Amino acid sequence: MKTDMPTQFSVSTTATPTPHDQIVASISNPAFGRVFTDHMATMRWTNTLGWHDAKVEPRRPFQIDPACAVLQYAQEIFEGMKAYRGEDGSISLFRPFENAKRFRASAARLSMADLPEALFVEAVESLVKVDRDWVPGGDGSLYLRPFMFASESFLGVRASHEYVFCVIACPVGPYFKAGKTSVAVWVSDQYTRAAPGGTGSAKCGGNYAASLIAQTEAAAKGCDQVVFLDAAEHKWIEEMGGMNLFFVMDDGSLTTPPLSGTILPGITRASIIELARREGIVVNETPYAFDAWRADAASGRVREVFACGTAAVVTAVGEVRHAAGEFQIGNGEEGPLTQRIRTQLTGIQRGKLADPLEWVYRID
Ligand code: PLP
Ligand code: COI
Repeated sequence: MKTDMPTQFSVSTTATPTPHDQIVASISNPAFGRVFTDHMATMRWTNTLGWHDAKVEPRRPFQIDPACAVLQYAQEIFEGMKAYRGEDGSISLFRPFENAKRFRASAARLSMADLPEALFVEAVESLVKVDRDWVPGGDGSLYLRPFMFASESFLGVRASHEYVFCVIACPVGPYFKAGKTSVAVWVSDQYTRAAPGGTGSAKCGGNYAASLIAQTEAAAKGCDQVVFLDAAEHKWIEEMGGMNLFFVMDDGSLTTPPLSGTILPGITRASIIELARREGIVVNETPYAFDAWRADAASGRVREVFACGTAAVVTAVGEVRHAAGEFQIGNGEEGPLTQRIRTQLTGIQRGKLADPLEWVYRID
């Protein structure tokens, strides 16, 4: 029987839960992505059964065959989202249906099984409910990583007939070193991330694998992240390895590269654009050349630059290094508009500020 919509995730909890004091210690000062909660949500898809076997179960390694399609041809996609604990102890997600929609778009691009949005959100919500003690308060959050991989054992090159969907979770603090108020970035003029017609707008593991050499180069240059330029001309700014970019101009407007198909349509990016426009700030989604950025930083036309994403939240870019030299943005620290946008966005996400667009999704 084809069961496309299981309505409930069965729950089996671990017989060896992490002791409460250990959870408290883990969530009080979490690094990014190293400590994981006790459970995971999983679901399977086959071309005969559709989605089935939906459950929350103790977190465990997968057993996969060496010929598993994902190991051979990298048919894999993922999402990144967070659960927040409000000051009243309540737990919420931020725009989870946007992640669900993007997951569907990524699946379509990678020729993978379509996962209905409600089912995606139900999986995330079911896991957060079971592992709710792991959601940090304060500035921390529970990072959620839904992903799907091709699980069929078959070496022919075609879309797999079997997939595993899974959600894991880890309590996290800042993505960049705690206490850092701005980051340094390396502009890669040699490696590109995505080309027109490719997978740049999908959140697939392969994009990140291809970006690692440039990220390694960035680290060797003392930088935190890499800025990619377009593949055709190596001229236009696209995005960073794991976040989108905004430029604050001297007239108070924001510029951000357009969704051309080669960058990830960030949910943080979309949220900032909406919030800024509501306040009357002009946002130009327009191509911006690296040469113009360099000249505008020197003339003072660019006042601030910030990166944004689920992991990075809103992080100022203070230093820019490239093959021909380096330059600073403003005084190298977080500027006032960056700070205001960060405060506004995190305030909504954490229930401290009004949520006029109803983006906060409460988990009871
Ligand atoms: N760009 C890339 C390459 C990313 O990995 C991310 C993070 O998910 C983003 C942009 C920002 O997307 P979002 O704001 O939806 O997290
Ligand atoms: C996220 O922000 O969720 C990402 O996937 C980016 C990565 C740098 C962790």
